[in-house]
Amino acid sequence: MHKASRAHGISLDESCAAHVWLAPTRAPTARSGRVVRVSTPGDLDLSLDPGLPITAHETEIADLIRNHQVVIVAGETGSGKTTQLPKICLKLGRTRIGHTQPRRIAARSVADRIAQETGRPLGETVGFQIRFTATVSQSTQLKLMTDGILLAEIGHDRLLRRYDTIIIDEAHERSLNIDLLLGYLKQLLPRRPDLKVVITSATIDTARFSAHFDDAPIVEVSGRTYPVEIRYAPPGDEDDLPQAIVAAIRDLPCRIVHYDTVSRFQPGYYLIENMK
Ligand SMILES: Nc1ncnc2c1ncn2[C@@H]1O[C@H](COP(=O)(O)OP(=O)(O)OP(=O)(O)O)[C@@H](O)[C@H]1O
Ligand SMILES: [Mg+2]
Repeated sequence: MHKASRAHGISLDESCAAHVWLAPTRAPTARSGRVVRVSTPGDLDLSLDPGLPITAHETEIADLIRNHQVVIVAGETGSGKTTQLPKICLKLGRTRIGHTQPRRIAARSVADRIAQETGRPLGETVGFQIRFTATVSQSTQLKLMTDGILLAEIGHDRLLRRYDTIIIDEAHERSLNIDLLLGYLKQLLPRRPDLKVVITSATIDTARFSAHFDDAPIVEVSGRTYPVEIRYAPPGDEDDLPQAIVAAIRDLPCRIVHYDTVSRFQPGYYLIENMK
């Protein structure tokens, strides 16, 4: 049992935060003044959610990560990529995991969710860093962050030595930050043979990610929780959009439509209000 410092919701510039977290071999120092007790690793719950499609692929994914430097994990939304993959990495003994998200709110909420699932308070084993805020400690093994934070870290840690594993989540979004990271990681890999990279993506574009990383293996973890049938009903030229949507819903066989549980996604607030 040892003490660790915890930076909790305080302002830190990126270089400062970099010193706070992921230095498990150094004696912990109380930076933030707030000290938390760190439990033994045995308390960490790394079990995967048996209800999620990714769980059926746990052994396959673990083997691939063990045997390859880069692995692509593709799956439909909700298949468990974001919340379960880091636990697979922790189970493999990876202890310095950087996990990127495209948005700040996701970095924070995903960290919160994984911390809950592992049964540890946020900022201990699982922490997060976004601009101006870091909730991490000496015992943090998994850090959620925006892809912008990881890019900024490259500026003073060219080899990304502080990580043994990097998960680039939502890579299919192909933002400038994500593309820069994928390009940088590609040339970094030969210089960091111990580094593992996991790319997660929706089921589009996976072959291109694989080709970029010299034919890295792809694991498909799809298997939707519920069967989904896609039907296209483009509006006619003279139809206005709300009318076309109502007509499309009415055309669906009544056995599959419960009119009180229809979700619709529209391009603007005006249309949403207009359809009420
Ligand atoms: N903060 C949360 N609170 C409650 N449930 C959550 C939370 N985050 C995720 N879940 C649930 O956990 C399950 C797995 O979600 P996860 O985000 O890991 O899937 P995913 O494959 O990453 O999906 P996506 O492609 O949409 O990012 C889903 O059923 C999701 O609803
Ligand atoms: Mg996700």
